Amino acid sequence: MQEIVTIDGPSGVGKSTISRRVAAMLSFTYLDTGAMYRAVGLKLQNADVDLSNDNDVKTCLQQISISLQPAATEDDEVTVILDGQDVSQEIRSPEMSMVASKVSAHPAVREKLTRMQQEIGCRGSIVAEGRDTGTVVFPEAAWKFYLDADPEERMHRRAKQLRLQGKEVDEEELLQMIIQRDHDDQTRTIAPLSKAVDAVTIDTGVLGIDDVVAKMVDVIKNKQ
Ligand code: DC
Repeated sequence: MQEIVTIDGPSGVGKSTISRRVAAMLSFTYLDTGAMYRAVGLKLQNADVDLSNDNDVKTCLQQISISLQPAATEDDEVTVILDGQDVSQEIRSPEMSMVASKVSAHPAVREKLTRMQQEIGCRGSIVAEGRDTGTVVFPEAAWKFYLDADPEERMHRRAKQLRLQGKEVDEEELLQMIIQRDHDDQTRTIAPLSKAVDAVTIDTGVLGIDDVVAKMVDVIKNKQ
């Protein structure tokens, strides 16, 4: 068993906030695997790489450097340095979410990032958050969770976040993007979004964030 907590689930269930808080409470390192897929998406997009050309994708990935640095507070996203440049803001747009989802279906991208994540995880004491951390990246993790919530609920939560950032929101369009992204993440052939058989499922649409975190820490402490 590895001293690793995995937290998987679809977008917009509050995974990032919850994962950061659980990591802070345990004094574990938070590993945001989605940020790594976003960084790769940005790199491939900027280099104008044709995703249908395996060799071009692999060549582009040979030269990649991604470093994740803890945020100043547990309420902020991690800082992401791609090839020496801070891309933390750039990778968080709704458009980059779609690009990340698209590149994440590519076998060479998954292989590269899975390996990088396993290297980070081999030191233990991490909370890994993503779509396949409990199923593919860390199947031997000691504690696994799957967070879920109704798409409408997730859309409202995301709309609120975007409005707080001063952005205009088309709720119907946002809902369609969430449904489309779920569909893409669940139906890709490799490492699709799915619940590990030994994961504890929590509905974050029913419980508040504090209650979800408390429940998870409770599960972890009771299964040492
Ligand atoms: O969690 P996020 O929204 O930042 O993730 C961005 C995209 O990356 C998401 O659409 C699916 C993909 N992803 C993945 O395929 N596997 C992971 N472990 C994490 C993210």
